[in-house]
Amino acid sequence: MSKLTLLFAVLAVTYVHGISDNWWRDVILYQVYPRSFKDSDGDGIGDLIGITTKLEHIKDIGADVVWLSPIYISPQADFGYDVTNFTDVNPEYGTLADFTKFITKAKYLGLRVILDFVPNHSSLQHPWFKQSVKKVKPYDSFYIWRDAKIVNGVREPPNNWLSAFTGSAWEWNEERGQYFLHQFLVDQPDLNYRNPFLNLAMKDALKFWLDRGVDGFRIDAINFAFEDKLFRDDPNSNISGIPKDDYDSLIHTYSRDQNETYGLIANWRKFMDNYSKKYKIDSKLLLSEAYTTLSLTIKYYDAGANAFNFMFITPLNKTSSASDFKRTIDEWLNNLPKHNVSNWVVGNHDQPRVASRYGVRRADMITMLAMILPGIAVVYNGDEIGMTNRNFTWEETVDIAGCNAGPERYHIKSRDPERIPFQWDNTTSAGFSTNKTTWLPVHENYITVNLAAQKEAKISHYQVFKALSTLKKKHPVLRNGTEEVILISEHVLGVVRRLEGSSPVSLLINFSERDAVIDAETNLNIPRELIVYVSSVDSNIDAGTQVDTSAMKLPGYASVMLASQSQVSELLYYF
Ligand code: NOJ
Ligand code: MG
Repeated sequence: MSKLTLLFAVLAVTYVHGISDNWWRDVILYQVYPRSFKDSDGDGIGDLIGITTKLEHIKDIGADVVWLSPIYISPQADFGYDVTNFTDVNPEYGTLADFTKFITKAKYLGLRVILDFVPNHSSLQHPWFKQSVKKVKPYDSFYIWRDAKIVNGVREPPNNWLSAFTGSAWEWNEERGQYFLHQFLVDQPDLNYRNPFLNLAMKDALKFWLDRGVDGFRIDAINFAFEDKLFRDDPNSNISGIPKDDYDSLIHTYSRDQNETYGLIANWRKFMDNYSKKYKIDSKLLLSEAYTTLSLTIKYYDAGANAFNFMFITPLNKTSSASDFKRTIDEWLNNLPKHNVSNWVVGNHDQPRVASRYGVRRADMITMLAMILPGIAVVYNGDEIGMTNRNFTWEETVDIAGCNAGPERYHIKSRDPERIPFQWDNTTSAGFSTNKTTWLPVHENYITVNLAAQKEAKISHYQVFKALSTLKKKHPVLRNGTEEVILISEHVLGVVRRLEGSSPVSLLINFSERDAVIDAETNLNIPRELIVYVSSVDSNIDAGTQVDTSAMKLPGYASVMLASQSQVSELLYYF
């Protein structure tokens, strides 16, 4: 090829692809929990080299973006969400050089990488905090310090705010003679975003990782960033049957969701955009984490982030009906600002696994919804093979959220059950580590529930996941079609994607454990003869089966995706 042709080729590619500002429009985002993904050195703790050796798996299942939960230096009081250095890698997980190898290989495989950004708090061990205790400027006001309230001569916290992990959100510091705020652990003092120097320091941290090629950030606990300037007491929630120091006993009017939060997001958006413009590179994805109301969630979109849509975790759950699902999905889609990209979170490291939340027979249902609906599908490592929670005894519990809740209530709060090691195969420690002892015990079901076995099996969660990701990525109906959520009967929900010139693709979900017979042809306005493209593992319906949609039998708890014969043949080509 002559130099001139080469130049034209490069220009043409740049022209077609452009500098993309919404490369995330249809992506599958895969969350890796580094501690539990793959251990390369046999210490029983996952690490960056381990993750790097398993990137092919992430590529293989059709994910486009890898999100790493925190890898920064940390005493691990909250397993990495307590950071002592925002710009270095925890030795347990490796080195900066390992990170470079990881991201280089990811990019080579065509995967994007986003990191967890933990702005609300640092570790108690962070040098900033130590300086803050000593009132060294500007660190003196990097955190939220308040004088004690003296009641009848006794020292009390400044107000009634509670920690998300139980108990007062205030901790007395003898040396400084004041209380500091910690909305999570005592080990996680809240940072003060009304201090301009802190804002600059955090942007430096962001730039550090942008310079190393990351494609964006998942922003942790963002609705905790600001608190009421007047430090007013939070009102009681009046929920009965929970202890007084339980986080849910208050409504967090003054300690959460303050208006300044959206300005902070807008500011980071601008910072990222300037960076992308300066280097003429793709936009950066910002995903904000806030469990909050729909209207406040949408405000993050307005500020320039994609806000995690947690509807399949809350408010929806295994007791929700087909019409609850329809109403909640429609409400979200109707409220999403125009030209913005939706997202659908299947699970994460803070929530019971989807197969445990909805039950094993419905393990694929939420993933199917997340894949057929337009936008970003957000999946948690292990959900692609239907991993389930492992039950922990009080003695085994290491998650501080569980420990703080005490022996009677730890099982309600602990996140250990969903954080157990990834089940690669049926060898020692599920192929996660050569060590028989791992930081959390492996699930006993790994002998049968593991990736290697599911690759061999004709029907498995892995096969279902691959079929879904292929459809999402390769099919124009899913990329560009309209979407409709239709209640077919009390227990059966339908989702249809349509595009002119194509046959529709539809998903049918039976919310009842009993079989249903439905007329999907009329209700969904789809052809009478269609093919099962993929169906949930326990549905007993084989992919490839031809169905009469006018009188279709849908087994209890089954989820089935239908497409035309030619669409199915076309998609099979990619397998
Ligand atoms: C949300 C994170 O996902 C969770 O794991 C962590 O404990 C809190 N934020 C505090 O950082
Ligand atoms: Mg805060």
